[in-house]
Amino acid sequence: MEEIRVFCPATIANISCGFDVLGVALDAVGDEMVVRKTHEKGIRITKLEGQDLPLETKKNVAGVAGLAFLEKADYNGGFEIEIYKKIKAGSGIGSSAASSTGAVWAMNYLLGNPFSKTDLVKFAMEGEKLASGVAHADNVAPALFGAFTLVRSYTPLDIIPIKNPSELFATVIHPQIEIKTADSRKILKTNISLENGIKQWGNVGGLIAGLFTEDYDLIGRSLEDHIIEPIRSILIPGFDDVKKEALSAGAMGCGISGSGPSIFAFSKGKQTADIVADAIKKTYQNIGIDFDIHVSKINSEGIKIIK
Ligand code: HSE
Repeated sequence: MEEIRVFCPATIANISCGFDVLGVALDAVGDEMVVRKTHEKGIRITKLEGQDLPLETKKNVAGVAGLAFLEKADYNGGFEIEIYKKIKAGSGIGSSAASSTGAVWAMNYLLGNPFSKTDLVKFAMEGEKLASGVAHADNVAPALFGAFTLVRSYTPLDIIPIKNPSELFATVIHPQIEIKTADSRKILKTNISLENGIKQWGNVGGLIAGLFTEDYDLIGRSLEDHIIEPIRSILIPGFDDVKKEALSAGAMGCGISGSGPSIFAFSKGKQTADIVADAIKKTYQNIGIDFDIHVSKINSEGIKIIK
């Protein structure tokens, strides 16, 4: 096969308690990419629609991730990439991760899958480094593995795939303002109190246990963030109101998606997720900032080939 078209899912990173270690892939939102083998060596971005982003290979996250892949691949040719962005940059639902992972996943596929998914996470992290200054893996891992993932360790990289409870749905509201991940990382404190640490790792453990045992109450109780949300939520207009409305509409939990400004809520069943969407839509209409809203099931396979 010389060329493929792939769907690259949007992702929610952190999931409240798991800053830089937890993430989940969505099904209803994502980019599309076409990746083609070429005789000419190197990576060329030949088309980029939907967003104003650089075409230059070394300035584009897909290009940089692709170069990291090529450096390790036993392959004499190169690749052309077309990117059709549906996820806005700076939205907090893994725009850069979708492009970085789509590129390396498709290249790997076209070469007969010489690399493992964990290898691909490493290559895609180079794209994240270009986008935010930090090679975090909590968006790229779920995009590549599907469902939920835990980055148990960065050195060495150890990704733990976590299956998704079948009735779990996400509602995501994306206010049309841009928050750069690099900026929203700069405002974080680098030290945490032992008291907050204890609460946070209790919740991480609870969330993982809840996901594996499909215990929706436990998942809901564990969606708390004592460290990052109190600081970052200040950047998101109406965050507290949205959270209050989502929870009273029946969501199990609600928090900042990645570095924001998107806000996510988890619900049991699509019906509740739709009710939550209506409730937070109303709240946001009163704020007067434009927004997109998505209700999505969890994407359990990650990147996939499309016709
Ligand atoms: N863990 C990263 C952060 C995710 O919160 O900065 C960015 O999408």
